[in-house]
Amino acid sequence: MSAHTKVEVTPLPVRQEPRHPRFENASPDPAYAPTILIVDDIDLNRRLLRGILKATSYRILEAKRPSVAFSLLDMEKVDLIIVDLVLPEMSGMEFCQMVKSDRRTQLIPILMLTSIQGIENEVAGLESGADDFLLKPLRPALVRTRVGTMLRHKALVDSLEEAESILFALAQSVEHRDRYTGLHCERLASYSIDLAHALGLPKQEQLALFRGGYLHDIGKISIPDSILFKRGLLTEEEWDIMRQHTIRGEQICRPMKTLAPVLPIIRSHHERWDGSGYPDSLAGEDIPLLARILQVADIYDALTTARPYKPAFSHDRAMAIMLEEVRRGWRDPELVPLFAEVVKRHAEAQADEQNMQQSLEAMRRELAE
Ligand SMILES: [Fe+2]
Repeated sequence: MSAHTKVEVTPLPVRQEPRHPRFENASPDPAYAPTILIVDDIDLNRRLLRGILKATSYRILEAKRPSVAFSLLDMEKVDLIIVDLVLPEMSGMEFCQMVKSDRRTQLIPILMLTSIQGIENEVAGLESGADDFLLKPLRPALVRTRVGTMLRHKALVDSLEEAESILFALAQSVEHRDRYTGLHCERLASYSIDLAHALGLPKQEQLALFRGGYLHDIGKISIPDSILFKRGLLTEEEWDIMRQHTIRGEQICRPMKTLAPVLPIIRSHHERWDGSGYPDSLAGEDIPLLARILQVADIYDALTTARPYKPAFSHDRAMAIMLEEVRRGWRDPELVPLFAEVVKRHAEAQADEQNMQQSLEAMRRELAE
């Protein structure tokens, strides 16, 4: 090639890093702009803050009084609250306490402004639920930095919540692949929480069971349809693959720290009392209690609902089969009789699906508080 030969060089495309708009201070799309609620009765203070934050494209809402702020919180998705310590109707600290005691708003960070210096004041404010403090007179650069940091943290919390929602949606899609199971997850959550309640288990464990009702079979997403929906008996190799759903489910959910209490349920819900179950051949009380509870509920629901291969059995017939499994050594001998009592009361209280959905939603709200 001569020195004069012109070589066509195609420029490499500049790689644009994908960026989540909510992580950026200056988002061009107002739909993604973080929303800040300023709660202060003094017009000048609100105007000053708006001026300080104006260079960035936040969406700013203003409230002169706490009652107006609560109405806005009911209607809008707010990402950060900036509140003055001194307010009409109630103090800034009381306002913080109310925001943080409501499940719908408790994750919104609060930046409290005060002109009263003193460690006692700061401690009391933080105890009331404020996430950070700024002392007046405000320094614009400090306000912008603090606001940016708090919003980035909020965006991370949001993304974790979104990830958890995606997992739940995925788990439900797994269940819906089998169109015969209907409200299987809901019934499972409902039965197992009732049993946990009868055993006096704490709310955290009831919440784990609620989530386990939805997530226990999420590992089935990795099982081929040809095995999952096979008509007829599975071969030994196919069973080996099917049994993997417990381990795969645990692997899928393990990265989410909030799901840690649910992992033993996902992994161990097919163990048997005599050690003949899978995947770890655990026996007796070595099988996590929450997994044993969910298993009892799971079997009962499978027996009492219609499947392609069997009709729905009555409560009495289902319990007779489960007690027979206790005699064979497969099930927890104390849990199954207790479940029989609990589920009978449960059936009376939730005569129809709508009742069950409503009481489950009430239970979910109570557990999350
Ligand atoms: Fe399973």
